Amino acid sequence: MAELTGKTALVTGASRGIGAAVALGLAEAGADIVLCDLPVQERYLADVASKIESIGRKAIVLPCDVTDKAGIEAMVAQAGTIDILVNNAGILKPSTLEDLSEADWDAHFDVNAKGILLMTNAVLPQMRARKAGRIINIASIAGRQGVPTQGHYAATKATAITLTRVYAQEVGMDGITVNAICPGIILTEMGKNNLGSEEAIRHWEEVAALKRLGDPKDIVGPTVFFASDLSAFVTGQALNVCGGIYFH
Ligand SMILES: NC(=O)c1ccc[n+]([C@@H]2O[C@H](COP(=O)([O-])OP(=O)(O)OC[C@H]3O[C@@H](n4cnc5c(N)ncnc54)[C@H](O)[C@@H]3O)[C@@H](O)[C@H]2O)c1
Repeated sequence: MAELTGKTALVTGASRGIGAAVALGLAEAGADIVLCDLPVQERYLADVASKIESIGRKAIVLPCDVTDKAGIEAMVAQAGTIDILVNNAGILKPSTLEDLSEADWDAHFDVNAKGILLMTNAVLPQMRARKAGRIINIASIAGRQGVPTQGHYAATKATAITLTRVYAQEVGMDGITVNAICPGIILTEMGKNNLGSEEAIRHWEEVAALKRLGDPKDIVGPTVFFASDLSAFVTGQALNVCGGIYFH
């Protein structure tokens, strides 16, 4: 059994979609949760906090932009002990590479790649001091293979996988594991906007070995696994969680 009682997990992008499901799932496994998302999402964070409290776990809402280094450092100081960090916040605005604006390139790298760097560096000192920690980066199968109209996004997710592998080697000596999850198509706001039509949903359901697309809850089990002692000897890995639409 995955047992997270007595642990505290910080989840970014926790107001909806995969982040909200993972925050609740970690709480169901016994963890107390620090919920982070953009300040505009605060009332949705409060809803997630209520659900976590209703199952008897603690939840703290600390809105923060993962691209804001000073804001992150203040949030982490306020949060106190963090045993598990889930770097989930992300953005996707489709565009061909030819039409991509420089601002959109920068925005995707700021949130999806630099966000991981800033968040991870902010929690590492306390994890190193305790000689324990779990870091889980939500990447994407898009980062394994570029996808048309998502080249910039895919590049940020390939970066997330590379950061996972390098951090794992740089912090493993202090008992900290770093792993990535590569979701396939998950039916969140991001996933639905990206697919665009019922026809596209049917197409990808047919492609998937399991003949369905993902629900945010499908990401919970792998996250709890990486957060718990069940994965004590696993680090620097990236796990596809995609219902069998991609195999490399
Ligand atoms: N949905 C999919 O099909 C899919 C597939 C592969 C990977 N992913 C990844 O999973 C993660 C969660 O995606 P989702 O589908 O739940 O998307 P979503 O758009 O529903 O949720 C993303 C959350 O991140 C938050 N966020 C955005 N910028 C932020 C910032 N600067 N600081 C703090 N929070 C910020 C948003 O407010 C939002 O709550 C993302 O990293 C995404 O790239 C999603």
